[in-house]
Amino acid sequence: MSVQKIIIDTDPGIDDAMAIHQAFADSRLEVVGLTTIFGNVYVDQATRNSLWLAEHGGYNCAVARGAERPISIEMNTPSFHVHGEQGFGEITEIIPVGTADPRPAHIYLSETIRANTGEIILCPIGPLSNIANLLDYDPEIINHIKKLVIMGGAVHVLGNVTSYAEANFWNDPHAAEKVLEANWEIDLIGLDVTSNIQFSHDVFTQGAKNSPRIGGFIHDLSKFYINFYKTVVGKSVCLMHDPAAILAITDPDIFTFQKAPLSVILEGEKVGNSFVSENLERRPVNVAVNVDAKAAQKKFISIFSQADSAYKKRLNSQGNKKL
Ligand code: BDR
Ligand code: CA
Repeated sequence: MSVQKIIIDTDPGIDDAMAIHQAFADSRLEVVGLTTIFGNVYVDQATRNSLWLAEHGGYNCAVARGAERPISIEMNTPSFHVHGEQGFGEITEIIPVGTADPRPAHIYLSETIRANTGEIILCPIGPLSNIANLLDYDPEIINHIKKLVIMGGAVHVLGNVTSYAEANFWNDPHAAEKVLEANWEIDLIGLDVTSNIQFSHDVFTQGAKNSPRIGGFIHDLSKFYINFYKTVVGKSVCLMHDPAAILAITDPDIFTFQKAPLSVILEGEKVGNSFVSENLERRPVNVAVNVDAKAAQKKFISIFSQADSAYKKRLNSQGNKKL
């Protein structure tokens, strides 16, 4: 695989931070930028956390601040109980030195995707408001993007915020509907597969042993996340939602996909629910319906085991040798 350019649209968030460091550490990917969104935290926290993650990873990529609220509804309270008051579990000292790109996320996305026409995979792992704003601002962008790989939705399974809805779709259902109805290629990595990727402490311990800086940080984050999931699934594991979307880009063979046009319920008890649409005009989405969870775990450990050497290599190539 040649190096794939990606932009991650994100609300970090513990599993977002894992996904971002996973992408930084994987030499098959070039992370061109991070765009930020509310969801797990407020958008200012998401922007600060993204800047910090790029600096912690020694990764030279743009960070652009996105929407602070959904496109039609009022904003829900962020998921502090899942990700911690600042998004990084117990870790609250998050002080980046850099600043965000001056452009709002949707303008950054439009200009960057056009400048790399046909080359960028956009990977949203938060509510889809920035992507809906991008479609409004630049409807022709569908001709310049390679594809979208989205973490969101629950098509054939129950939701995680309500029985019907997955968190990212629930936080901005109108944006999700707008993105699903646009004529571009989408791989949807929803709860159908991400709920089956459950990692216990020892997965993170292995990454921490081999890569104390990056793997160690991910290990520290995982404690809070596992504590939360223990209250939901009754065992000491966490569900790897956002890292699954990055894996679907680097290792699509471990997933099984089914094509189906999708739609989202916009109000009422089932708001945020994603379902197979009867609208045959709508372009089918590649819905992930199965994953080889053992293979996902193996890949994740192997990427984090060499995350510090990838970090060192980056610093060396920038003439900075201070690991
Ligand atoms: C999604 O919601 C957020 O809490 C996670 O970061 C993930 O993107 C899972 O439903
Ligand atoms: Ca997320």
